[in-house]
Amino acid sequence: MPAPRILVTGGAGFIGSHTCVALIEAGYQPVVLDTLVNSDARSLKRVACITGVEPVLVRADVRDAAALDRAFAAHEVRAVVHLAGLKAVGESVADPLGYYDVNLAGSLALARAMDRAGVRTLVFSSSATVYGDSHPSPIAEAAPHGPVNPYGRTKSMVESMLADLSRADPRWGIACLRYFNPVGAHESGLLGELPNGPPNNLMPYISQVAAGEREYLVVHGADYDTADGTGVRDYVHVMDVAEGHVAALHRAARRPGILMANLGTGHGASVLEVVSAFERASGRRIALRIGPRRPGDAPAYWADARSAWRTLGWRARRDLDQMCADSWRWQCANPHGFDDPVPALVPGAALFQNNDRGINIHSNRGHTHV
Ligand SMILES: NC(=O)c1ccc[n+]([C@@H]2O[C@H](COP(=O)([O-])OP(=O)(O)OC[C@H]3O[C@@H](n4cnc5c(N)ncnc54)[C@H](O)[C@@H]3O)[C@@H](O)[C@H]2O)c1
Repeated sequence: MPAPRILVTGGAGFIGSHTCVALIEAGYQPVVLDTLVNSDARSLKRVACITGVEPVLVRADVRDAAALDRAFAAHEVRAVVHLAGLKAVGESVADPLGYYDVNLAGSLALARAMDRAGVRTLVFSSSATVYGDSHPSPIAEAAPHGPVNPYGRTKSMVESMLADLSRADPRWGIACLRYFNPVGAHESGLLGELPNGPPNNLMPYISQVAAGEREYLVVHGADYDTADGTGVRDYVHVMDVAEGHVAALHRAARRPGILMANLGTGHGASVLEVVSAFERASGRRIALRIGPRRPGDAPAYWADARSAWRTLGWRARRDLDQMCADSWRWQCANPHGFDDPVPALVPGAALFQNNDRGINIHSNRGHTHV
């Protein structure tokens, strides 16, 4: 039996490439549709190094209806994981139309193409930004939406569109995954986040300071009403997030309707706690300077993760120390990203044994599939 094919839009990106690993390990064949506007096709070669299976790449735009129709016709796709999108909050404020076009119009074009192809199982990458900044933590899925920037509004609107679609047509099975703060890297050191320019997010920034690429970390506000005064977020390992997609796919395939699920650990870590964990993982001192608060930053938020456990049977398994250790391994092994040769497999990633073709064949078959 050939492995069931899953179309993964945005599958060459940070979360998408790790999701390809999790899908292959669960016995699926990802077909990636990506423009590569914020990613590199070599991420898929690294997926092959880890799993022994290289995802097919369809280089196309998720807004391109004809390209979508061709992809569905060519690949006998069973279900879709939709991650393609633009994700920089600041950029979304400067270029709202660009964001509505890719994130909203792209999702509409995709849902229409799925309907034409008769593929009605969808996992959508949403975000904790749909909640806005006024809810007490932990934040449960029932909390009302209140996004405070165009990026968050595009995610909220796509969720509403998909909820309307599921009410209108009960054949659809949809899961919207609200990620909190995905960080870390694959434990092999072969796959990780490649920020384009100065990182917007804390962990890649710290990682670059530890590596000596940046002089110091600016902590944006140390006078919040939190235990140590710095902002608190729910950091979740990217491989846990990736595995959440497999759990959501199973659920969406079996149960029609729409489900919203937080992907977070259920507790927060402050900036200073992340810095300490990274210092432990790397053995390096992280220089830092305290700067003013950033407008629009919430002091603290973390997920109520109980519903994801109840509905998907998913919970985060990797802790902050592992998130830092895996980020640091990725940083050390790939200081120039995918321009570096495939690193020698790293001690500690014993799971990843080379076979004589130089790749591991650890794919895990025999699961039940969508
Ligand atoms: N990383 C986070 O912190 C985070 C948090 C919450 C939600 N998300 C969402 O998860 C998804 C994946 O995020 P990521 O961190 O992997 O980002 P990423 O930029 O690494 O991945 C997005 C991928 O989509 C592709 N893409 C962009 N526009 C496209 C288009 N028009 N057609 C086809 N492909 C296109 C990019 O080339 C990239 O490979 C995004 O939808 C993002 O909004 C991310």
